[in-house]
Amino acid sequence: MFHEKFAEGIISAKQFNREDIEYILKKGKEMLSETNSNLLKGKILASLFFEPSTRTRLSFESAMYRLGGNVIGFHSEDVSSIMKGESIADTIRTVENYSDCIVMRHSLEGAARMASKFARVPIINAGSGSGEHPTQALLDLLTITEEFGSLDGLNIGLMGDLKYGRTVHSLSILLSYFDANVYFISPVELKMRNRDKDYLQQRRMNYKEITDYRKILDTLDILYMTRIQKERFIDLEEYEKVKGLYIFRQDDLANTKEKFRLLHPLPRITEISSDIDESEKAIYFKQTFYGIPMRKAILAELMKD
Ligand code: CP
Repeated sequence: MFHEKFAEGIISAKQFNREDIEYILKKGKEMLSETNSNLLKGKILASLFFEPSTRTRLSFESAMYRLGGNVIGFHSEDVSSIMKGESIADTIRTVENYSDCIVMRHSLEGAARMASKFARVPIINAGSGSGEHPTQALLDLLTITEEFGSLDGLNIGLMGDLKYGRTVHSLSILLSYFDANVYFISPVELKMRNRDKDYLQQRRMNYKEITDYRKILDTLDILYMTRIQKERFIDLEEYEKVKGLYIFRQDDLANTKEKFRLLHPLPRITEISSDIDESEKAIYFKQTFYGIPMRKAILAELMKD
């Protein structure tokens, strides 16, 4: 049962198998037709964002309110006692007394995992450094299944910052449970990390690494673009070298299949030209909408009585 298996929360996409993914996608789909309910009436979500967020924090909080629950929390470590030197462990040991579930974003890769060791309530990893962002990957899959009906048999390109981009780390793990052909498209400096590729190879995932997306663009069903994660670079000169290498424009769209779809977890900076936003192939804002049903499904499962 999903609820029992994920009693400690959702920290990594590696916790999932195909059955779990299909189950939570089904629950997300069911939430699409449900507007507001009282499923989580009396429950409290603690929303602890130590790093900036627009979509993840607001969609979790909106999802909680739409399920009849309440939200406490902070959206910057500046307003928490972390600023007085309190540790994450002590923060979690305190906040678990005030809530039924904790959703947390932090710049440290292991922060959510560490928090789960100190909490008796489920922890949801809402982005941990360059590590993972599993609930984004789940909403990405919900978006794809709503567009294509299935995940199997698709040609999917993941493009941009595959080294520091946490969404693509989680998404590639989940995709490894499906029969998709995956292309990792990045500058050499921002290739998928070896430890991530080792994991995907163990899972016998069918992927190729390339640098020029134009060579395969006409074969793709989906291109999932990502922002170059400026905040993760130690040397900003390295960022300057790669920041403008991929910019998806109108003339690229002309070389895509009729059913092609362009996704992006957002925020985007310059990597997608805004003059294609109105194209039916550009679905990154629709993708943000799926954050609500997916996160409603996750919260409802984790806080089930
Ligand atoms: N996709 C995503 O994580 O967006 P935010 O950083 O705005 O939460």
